[in-house]
Amino acid sequence: MSTQEQARQDGDTYGLQRNTPSSIRLNAQHYIWKDAVGGNLHSRIAVNNASTTRVADIGTGTGIWMHDMKREYPAIQIDGFDISLEQAPHPAWLPPDIRLHKLDVTKAIPDEFCEQFDIIHLRLFLAVVQDNDASPIIRNLISMLKPGGWLQWAEHPFQDLGDVRVEAPSPDVSSTAMQAYLDLAQAGSDKKWAWVPKLPRTFSSLGLIDVESSSPPSKPYTWLYSTQLIMGAVLEISYQILDNSTPESKGPVMRRIIEAACGDMRNGVYLTYSPLVVIGRKRL
Ligand SMILES: C[S@@+](CC[C@H](N)C(=O)[O-])C[C@H]1O[C@@H](n2cnc3c(N)ncnc32)[C@H](O)[C@@H]1O
Repeated sequence: MSTQEQARQDGDTYGLQRNTPSSIRLNAQHYIWKDAVGGNLHSRIAVNNASTTRVADIGTGTGIWMHDMKREYPAIQIDGFDISLEQAPHPAWLPPDIRLHKLDVTKAIPDEFCEQFDIIHLRLFLAVVQDNDASPIIRNLISMLKPGGWLQWAEHPFQDLGDVRVEAPSPDVSSTAMQAYLDLAQAGSDKKWAWVPKLPRTFSSLGLIDVESSSPPSKPYTWLYSTQLIMGAVLEISYQILDNSTPESKGPVMRRIIEAACGDMRNGVYLTYSPLVVIGRKRL
């Protein structure tokens, strides 16, 4: 049994892969998203660069955000949490003030992590949030915050993939294959991500204050990179959760459609979307 099959049996239903290409995608994605949203944290969140400042990264993946934060604020302590630490560096190579913990953030948070953190960061949980409802996770994150602490959630702002646009460099360049990909992906998404645009309201309804959100318009020079990220993620999904039992099953069909869409991409046809960042603060 593969590690990921074992993880499924243990209740980890993550729909992406955790292999080396997947880790490379997450690392590239970090810098592309950082550029898109203007930094590791929203400008409203002030970080005290002191050893008493505790920051948590939830669903840390490869841990790339933590290491980048630590470069920016060398004195702080950072704890990375993930249901699987398969993509994270071996603890032997971490500095003492960066720690990793296996944690399922959908389950009750152990006492040792309650009210411990000044800042909690979470990014890209589309493949994690269940039943179109982020509230159980947000409640758990609030329990981890110190009074006055900040929560930042960065996400694809989709209700479904209809919120993504196809852009061609000129009307005579065909975008048929890219549009076919998007139509198919959208047909399967069924507004299951309607929780994303509701995040600011959910933050407020769960008691967070000073809630703000931003969705900086994406810059055309980034569209190629964003399209590559989506194509890479969908390729992983095609292996991880779609049916691959026959050449005509959903997985192989999706891969053929992705390959055709990548042909359009080489001609300058891109998918565009702007990331969403939502912040809120726990009352003192
Ligand atoms: C798309 S990756 C994003 C990784 C990282 N936040 C980043 O932006 O590079 C989502 C991460 O959430 C983790 N994850 C999935 N389900 C989780 C859960 N229930 N609790 C904690 N982490 C979870 C996955 O293992 C994966 O590392």
